[in-house]
Amino acid sequence: MWKLTTLCLMCVCVALSDAYWFCSTSNHVVRAMENEGIEKVVANALPSIKLSVKYPESGFEVDLGNELKPKDLNNIPEVHWDEANEKKNYTLIFTDPDVPSRTNPINKEFLHWLVVNIPGNRVKDGKVIADYVGPAPPKGTGLHRYVFLVFEQEDGMYNFPKFNFIDNRTAVGRPLFSTNLFLMDNNLIIIPLAGNFFKAQYDDSVPVTHKQIGLQP
Ligand SMILES: *[C@@H]1O[C@H](CO)[C@@H](O)[C@H](O)[C@H]1NC(C)=O
Ligand SMILES: *[C@@H]1O[C@H](CO)[C@@H](O)[C@H](O)[C@H]1NC(C)=O
Repeated sequence: MWKLTTLCLMCVCVALSDAYWFCSTSNHVVRAMENEGIEKVVANALPSIKLSVKYPESGFEVDLGNELKPKDLNNIPEVHWDEANEKKNYTLIFTDPDVPSRTNPINKEFLHWLVVNIPGNRVKDGKVIADYVGPAPPKGTGLHRYVFLVFEQEDGMYNFPKFNFIDNRTAVGRPLFSTNLFLMDNNLIIIPLAGNFFKAQYDDSVPVTHKQIGLQP
């Protein structure tokens, strides 16, 4: 009998420490996003898992609100999340809600990258709807928040009929994007699985990026 009791006690302890681990992890990501008002502007709910976002060519990494320079973020980052289910498809959204600025976001959001039907966490095998374009906050508009979110696709595969492919030489289709509308229109699970964000302001690389996507200076 005492063996059974010990076993049960052990189970309770393991369950508790798991719960504690989960809570503290979730609080970490959720709190960082809440502190910067991400929930109010981008998604209806916040992720509890930290998305790993690394820029291999410059060596920089996104870290829950750190400040990075646009010039270091021009190439597609490596994105990874741990809780990926190989049998499911996911959607990755990279968006700037602070358009033209955080204090006056009348043209929010600007869509920087959108990949759907990602099997497991193999972003390369997903279908790109909007090519990756690095952050390009206009001069004098202060720090922008740049948010990465990953959502599970409830029904597996989507056709996303309303969206035409947006390549990396155009801004058409990028401004006035709404993450919330996109989630509702496409039956995504509205609680993001994983997320991360950084902040960036204007630097000398911005005019080059604007030119690349056909925006006037
Ligand atoms: C995920 O999307 C792909 C198309 O990219 C599709 O072939 C596959 O069946 C989908 N997986 C699931 C689980 O629905
Ligand atoms: C734009 O996309 C193409 C094709 O995906 C890629 O080869 C090219 O390097 C990208 N250009 C920039 C500036 O990201």
